[in-house]
Amino acid sequence: MSRPTSLYHPVTIGDVRIPGNLFLAPMAGYTDVAFRTIALREGADCTYTELISAEGILRGSKNTFSLLNRSPEETYWGVQIFTSSPFAAGQAVAKIVTLATPTLIDLNCGCPVPKVVHHGGGAALLKDPSLIYMIVKTMKEHTSIPVTVKIRSGWDVQSINYLETADAAVQGGASMVCLHPRTRTQGYGGKSDWNHITHLKSYLSVPVFGSGDLFTPQDVLRMLETTRCDGVMIARGAVGNPFIFTQVKSLLKGIPPIRVTTENRLSTALMHLDLAISTLGETLACREMRKHFCAYVKGIEGSAAFRNKIVHAESREQYQRLVEEYIQSHSS
Ligand SMILES: Cc1cc2nc3c(=O)[nH]c(=O)nc-3n(C[C@H](O)[C@H](O)[C@H](O)COP(=O)(O)O)c2cc1C
Repeated sequence: MSRPTSLYHPVTIGDVRIPGNLFLAPMAGYTDVAFRTIALREGADCTYTELISAEGILRGSKNTFSLLNRSPEETYWGVQIFTSSPFAAGQAVAKIVTLATPTLIDLNCGCPVPKVVHHGGGAALLKDPSLIYMIVKTMKEHTSIPVTVKIRSGWDVQSINYLETADAAVQGGASMVCLHPRTRTQGYGGKSDWNHITHLKSYLSVPVFGSGDLFTPQDVLRMLETTRCDGVMIARGAVGNPFIFTQVKSLLKGIPPIRVTTENRLSTALMHLDLAISTLGETLACREMRKHFCAYVKGIEGSAAFRNKIVHAESREQYQRLVEEYIQSHSS
């Protein structure tokens, strides 16, 4: 086993050198500009947007464009698209590169949601590696920015084909592959099979990232150590818990991870809310932040009662008041 310190390192994807290998994974409904900014402030080395419809970009949909908002703090960030059409992928990439200047562009080959797979996108692409090849190749023809691909192990347990789909992506020009080793059928349930990440890492020449069941700093250390992957994408483990990035860095340096106090949690949640308000406006941000706020306070003393109140918060002032009341009633 290598020393933990050597597990945290810069990673080169195509011609882009990213200073560290702890990324925030794309998550629909979560990884907007506000959450990505918080993750960066808490130590993430690179972030991704949620999956964005290539066809939506081409239609000029206002909602779709809003997903391309970038914070001035985001030096390294990726935009993830989904589609089943090489043509749409190429045209969308050309538009995204001009509008948003991302560091990386990713193709989603893992989304299990029916409205995506029924149109042949997301995890449905796993059934047709030659289509993955064509889409990535067309994306590459429209940009010099490195293209990455995020896959699952296969459609179902009978059709595990991550080596084949990853190979098709690399043949098409992908500069990094991230594997979430569950099948489409598994959704987000059961356990991810990290052996698939180990196997893929020994098979590919481009960097391999791992995703799946990274809920604690120790999980991240274990994935880096056991699979030898080049980096990780942390997903659910960062929701309400962006502190995980700094904690992993401490752990890898052999320093005891910082203890996150309730005050830290609440002040970070309010900072997150303020960032969300600055991009979404107060009404929408307050609604969107309920799920994040509930996640920030999960596990703290009296969290169930606190969460029951938060899910009705409608203004910045109400959130602030709830936080102050909580602190007052729980300070000894
Ligand atoms: C709510 C939610 C939304 C997600 N949205 C996306 C997405 O837009 N694009 C993507 O590639 N993966 C998406 N994922 C998958 C995650 O990036 C990650 O690969 C997966 O959750 C496994 O990691 P975990 O077990 O540590 O959560 C999503 C996952 C969740 C839970």
